[in-house]
Amino acid sequence: MLRQGRVSEAQQRAHETLLPIYGIAYSEAPLDLDRVFGRSAPKVLEIGFGMGETTAAIAAAHPETDYLGIEVHTPGVGSLLKQIDANQLGNVRIIQHDAMEVLQHMIAPRSIDGVHIFFPDPWPKKRHHKRRLIQPPMVERLLRTLKTGGYLHAATDWHEYAEQILAVCSAAPELQNTAQDYAPRPAYRPRTKFESRGLKLGHGVWDIVFRCVRHAG
Ligand SMILES: C[S@@+](CC[C@H](N)C(=O)[O-])C[C@H]1O[C@@H](n2cnc3c(N)ncnc32)[C@H](O)[C@@H]1O
Repeated sequence: MLRQGRVSEAQQRAHETLLPIYGIAYSEAPLDLDRVFGRSAPKVLEIGFGMGETTAAIAAAHPETDYLGIEVHTPGVGSLLKQIDANQLGNVRIIQHDAMEVLQHMIAPRSIDGVHIFFPDPWPKKRHHKRRLIQPPMVERLLRTLKTGGYLHAATDWHEYAEQILAVCSAAPELQNTAQDYAPRPAYRPRTKFESRGLKLGHGVWDIVFRCVRHAG
């Protein structure tokens, strides 16, 4: 299901003119990512990039790495497209589609160096927990795509979701925690405005960084 929010005129224009350039159409065939980006370089997936400020900042600071953002929300896709264009970010591409399906069909096994999932929707009500993105089926699909040595980095400001992520990742024998439990915020992840405001109010943010150390089978 594509979730449609309000789309500004500028986002709509960016969506129409720039998606054909920086977007990759969903299809059920695996992508050759080196061909997509025109080079062989580390590949990082970002799932649910929202308005894309973090994606654009990380990509600008790391031109040596290629970033593939997956997001369903049209205003967010328009917003990141505008930033890619304004900052001439040659190392970002977007797929506007459900991440579970993209992982299953478009991402080749052991082709990804890192996965970012920043502030996934917390779905705080207990009866909605099943809608949360980071659950065993998602982690299983991610594991298939990660190279040995690749990392999975999630961040959340919802403590109980942080505990769930920690538990789900700890239960996968292919994954090893890079910290005792929560990791210090890696330098490449910039603090968002929303996060700084929350921290001033005494709210916490938890980073969880696991590494893929082996593959099953
Ligand atoms: C709370 S927002 C966080 C956005 C951003 N990462 C940030 O830190 O501000 C979560 C985002 O995940 C996206 N999302 C949720 N489920 C998704 C899915 N299955 N596939 C792709 N994107 C998804 C939503 O559209 C939303 O933009």
